[in-house]
Amino acid sequence: MSESKVYPVPAAVTEHALLDRRQYEQMYQRSISDPDSFWGEQAEAFLTWFKRWDRVHYADLHKGDIRWFEGAKLNVSYNCLDRHLATRGDQIALIWEGDEPDQDKRITYRELHEQVCRFANALKARGVRKGDRVCIYLPMIPEAAATMLACSRIGAVHSVIFGGFSSNALRDRILDSDCHVLITADEGVRGGRPVPLKENAERALAECPKVDTVFVVRRTGSDITWTDGRDIWYHDAIRTATVDCPAEPMDAEDSFYILYTSGSTGKPKGVLHTTAGYLLQAAMTHKYIFDYHDNEVYWCTADVGWVTGHSYIVYGPLANGATTLLFEGVPTYPDASRFWQIIDKHQVSIFYTAPTAIRALMGQGDEPVKKTSRRSLRLLGTVGEPINPEAWEWYYHIVGEGRCPIVDTWWQTETGTIMISPLPGATDLKPGSATLPFFGIEPQLVDNEGNIVSGPGEGNLCIARAWPSMMRTVYGDHERFLNTYLTHYPGMYFTGDGARRDQDGYYWITGRIDDVLNISGHRMGTAEIESALVLHSAVAEAAVVGYPHAIKGQGIYAYVTLIIGNAPSDTLRQELIDLVREEIGAIAKPDIIQWAPSLPKTRSGKIMRRILRKVAANELDNLGDTSTLADPSVVARLVESRAHQ
Ligand code: WTA
Repeated sequence: MSESKVYPVPAAVTEHALLDRRQYEQMYQRSISDPDSFWGEQAEAFLTWFKRWDRVHYADLHKGDIRWFEGAKLNVSYNCLDRHLATRGDQIALIWEGDEPDQDKRITYRELHEQVCRFANALKARGVRKGDRVCIYLPMIPEAAATMLACSRIGAVHSVIFGGFSSNALRDRILDSDCHVLITADEGVRGGRPVPLKENAERALAECPKVDTVFVVRRTGSDITWTDGRDIWYHDAIRTATVDCPAEPMDAEDSFYILYTSGSTGKPKGVLHTTAGYLLQAAMTHKYIFDYHDNEVYWCTADVGWVTGHSYIVYGPLANGATTLLFEGVPTYPDASRFWQIIDKHQVSIFYTAPTAIRALMGQGDEPVKKTSRRSLRLLGTVGEPINPEAWEWYYHIVGEGRCPIVDTWWQTETGTIMISPLPGATDLKPGSATLPFFGIEPQLVDNEGNIVSGPGEGNLCIARAWPSMMRTVYGDHERFLNTYLTHYPGMYFTGDGARRDQDGYYWITGRIDDVLNISGHRMGTAEIESALVLHSAVAEAAVVGYPHAIKGQGIYAYVTLIIGNAPSDTLRQELIDLVREEIGAIAKPDIIQWAPSLPKTRSGKIMRRILRKVAANELDNLGDTSTLADPSVVARLVESRAHQ
C-alpha cells in the first residue's frame, strides 16, 4: 500500500512557514499540559476584545456544559471588519468569481464594512434583536458573507441553509429555528443553470406564518412573485439604511449561529456554536494550517451553506484580515479547467477543496490542468471525506507540481473548526492521512467496549477534552446533544468516525461508523432519505445505505419494498427520485433503487444494514453471519433481485 509513503516537509517550505516542527511540538505540548495559559495567549494574539474574560475555560462533558472565555465581551463582525479598517481599509477582503468567467467583483474591507453596517441597520429596522434567529438561503454571492456578518454585528443568530436544499427542507429549518426573517435571492446560477431560490422560498413560507420579512437579493433579475409589506429588495434596504451601526458587545458564550447537519437518526439537528471560542479557533486554524501570510489570495471552494464555508470562507479568513475568494459556480463549467483558470486569474496562493472535486477533475485528464500556469499556488488543502491516495498523488504532482504541501483537514460541523491536519512547515505528509492533532485537541481511539486503544491501532474516534470551537448544544434539544455525542463514551466527545493510528501517531480516518452517508463530501442521514421514500403511497418500507462510488466517495443505494398490489416500474422509480428531491434536495437523490421483496431483519425487527451494505457493494460472497435473521432466506431473495434490477 502507498500508505507508508512519506513526503518530508521541503526545506523551502519550512523556511517560509509560520511554524516548524519543533514549534508545533512545543506549542502542542503546552496546549495540552497548560491549556488555560495557552488559550489565553492565543485569545490575546488573535482577537480584539471589548472586555477580558474572567476564566479561560470550564467544561463538564458529562452534562454538556462547555464555556470558554466566560465574562468576556467581543463582536464577530468587529473582529472581521472594523479592526482591520485602519491598516487594511483598501485591501480586498472578498473576491467574487461569478458562474460565468467574465463576471467578478472585488470588495475592499471598507466597502464590506459599510455594506454590513447598512444591512445590520436594515435588520434592526425590521425588528431583529440580539438573540433572534435569521435564516439565510442564498447562492454563493458576496451578500451571503455580508448578511452573515450583519447578523453577527447585532447579535442575531444566523442559520444558513444550503441553496441546494428543497423548499421542504428550507421550511423545516425555518420552523425549527423559529425565525421571523429570511434572506434569499431571486435566483441562483450554477453551471449555467438557474436555481429558483425565491420560488422555493415562497413554497416554504406558505407554511411558515411567523416570517414577516423577506430580504431578496437581485441576482439574475428574473420574474418573481412578490408580497408587498413582507418582501424587501436587499439593494433598497442597504441604500436607505444608515451606515452607522456600532457592533453589539456580545458575551463570549452568546449564541453565534445554528447550522443544521444530518445524523444517524431523525431530522437534521441544529448545531449551535457560540461566539468567542468559535471565532478564536477559526482564526487560529486558518492562520496556522493554511499558513496564511498577509496579502495572499486564499480560496476555499466550499459553499457557505456548509460549515466549511462558515469557518474557512468567511470567519477565519476575515478575522485574519485575509483576501478570501468566493466562487459561485462549479468545477466543470464552462469546462474542466475552470478551477485552475480562476487560480491564475486571481493569483490564488492557497487552494482548499474536496476530494470529490479532485476525483472528478482527475477523471478529465491532466491537460485541463497543465494548460494553466498555477505558479501562484503554494499550498493545497482537502476536506470533507477521506482522500484516496491516488487522488492525493494526482493533486500533489499534477495540480501542485510537487511543490505545494497538501493539508488534509479532518473536522466536522460539530467541531466548528479543523481538528486533525498537517501544518505545512511542520508535518511530513502521508497521502491519505489527516496526520496529527491541532493545538488543544486530544484524540482518543476507543473500542466498542469503551477501552482506550493506546499506541498504533484502530477504534472509534473520540476527543478527550473540550476545545473552544466545540458545539455547545443541539438547538432546542440539549438531551439530543448529550445522547448523540457525549454518552457513548462518558467524559469524551464521540465523533461518529472510525480511525486508525499508525506507529508515528498519524491518524487515518476510515469513515463514518454510524448511518451517516458522505456523498461528495456532503453529509446525509440514511433515515432522512428513508422517511422521504416511505411518503410514497406505493412504498411499504425503505432502507438506504452507502456504496463505494468512484467520484462521489459514496453513492446512495436505496432498497424499496412495495405495498402488495404495486409493481416496480421506471415511472415509479422516477417518482421516488423526485420525491427525495422535493423533500431534501438533489444532493440526496438515490443513485440506485433496488426493488426488494423484503428486507433482512433480526427477530426483534431491526434492519440488518450490514448485509444491505454488502449487497449494495456487490460483496456477495462475504455476507457474514446471517443466522440471527428472522428469516435467513430473505438474503437469497435480495441477492437474486439485485441481479434482476
Ligand atoms: C468526514 C465537514 C476524512 C468525516 C468539515 C466527518 C473527513 C464528516 C475529513 C463531517 C477528512 C471530513 N478525512 N473524513 N479530511 N473531513 N470528513 O459535518 O466523516 O459536513 O465526520 O463537516 O466528514 O462532515 P461535516
